[in-house]
Amino acid sequence: MKAAITATAKYLPPDILSNHDLELMLETNDEWIRSRTGISERRILKDPSKATSFMCGEVARQLLEKRGIGADEIELIIIATMTPDMLFPSTGCLVQSIIGATNAWAFDLNAACSGFLYALNTASRFIESGAHKKIMVIGADKMSSIIDYTDRSTAILFGDGAGGVILEPASSNGCGVLDTRLYSDGATGKHHLLMTGGGSLNPATHETIDKGMHYIYQDGRQVFKSAVTSMADVADEIMRRNNLTADNIDFLVPHQANQRIITATAERMGLDDAKVVSNVARYGNTTAGTIPICLAELDEQQKLHAGSNLVLVSFGAGYTWGGIYLKWQ
Ligand code: UT7
Repeated sequence: MKAAITATAKYLPPDILSNHDLELMLETNDEWIRSRTGISERRILKDPSKATSFMCGEVARQLLEKRGIGADEIELIIIATMTPDMLFPSTGCLVQSIIGATNAWAFDLNAACSGFLYALNTASRFIESGAHKKIMVIGADKMSSIIDYTDRSTAILFGDGAGGVILEPASSNGCGVLDTRLYSDGATGKHHLLMTGGGSLNPATHETIDKGMHYIYQDGRQVFKSAVTSMADVADEIMRRNNLTADNIDFLVPHQANQRIITATAERMGLDDAKVVSNVARYGNTTAGTIPICLAELDEQQKLHAGSNLVLVSFGAGYTWGGIYLKWQ
């Protein structure tokens, strides 16, 4: 039995932070940001009383409505995030309470930008084993909560957003999540993309706040090099393992960190631009949100048909990376 996506949804907060807004805050400019990253604007969840669970709740409500089922039918909720509302309880439990999914169990999964692929793979196993029939998988991050808006090397990259899917046993043969390759390399990754404050190693103190340890730190050049190679390698591996070619792939759905990384991956796969999903210009990098937001947009635009071949690839903190081949139902 394979696991198929039966509904998609996304939530982007309405407030826009444009490159021109950033020019007023930092020593940067629209031309530099667009040419180095492809980003023009990102969305910010401004209301301080709202956080990741709010965006997930908005996605979850739409998913139930689109699928035409009640919250009581959901058996498991997995939230991929690295910006949970609180360290505990999990954002999954908060989302369960927002929608009233009283028959579900829920947990969070943290694999940073690869969180959605890790969660989709985990949920697929629960379907394939027959343990569950309806699972909600949401990727969401309120990146504005951990960004230092005086640091031009990170402030320009990230935005807030959420996307998600409902996963069920595939009803047509040969459809669903067909292959997965997931990787991590903590030995290298732990030095280049991290947030040192707020965990059990450096709980919040005046000193950690003064040192800016509750903000994201990234060595952009190092991460860029690894991201370009790893995303292209895993895409190539997924293609070879599944006899996929540039002709029979319908869409590459890549993590949205930088248009240059997306383009390099697509070139390695031999794909035309029309087959490469990109919205990094509008939303920036929403971390665990990027891939499900892309899926929801493809679905809204009615570009997905029974039998469409999709390759999903990601790279992020950890390092974590991976690829999933799925055939749309
Ligand atoms: O999703 C998680 C994974 N994350 C990623 O995949 C991100 C990977 N990294 C990147 O996307 C790119 O490395 C960045 C977009 C972060 C940076 O682009 P880059 O082409 O690697 O630039 P750089 O860091 O090598 O900096 C080039 C120059 C530097 O000046 P000098 O030393 O050449 O004088 C920077 O100080 O650009 C300068 N710079 C800026 N200038 C204007 C850095 N940030 C900015 C800025 N505006 N915002």
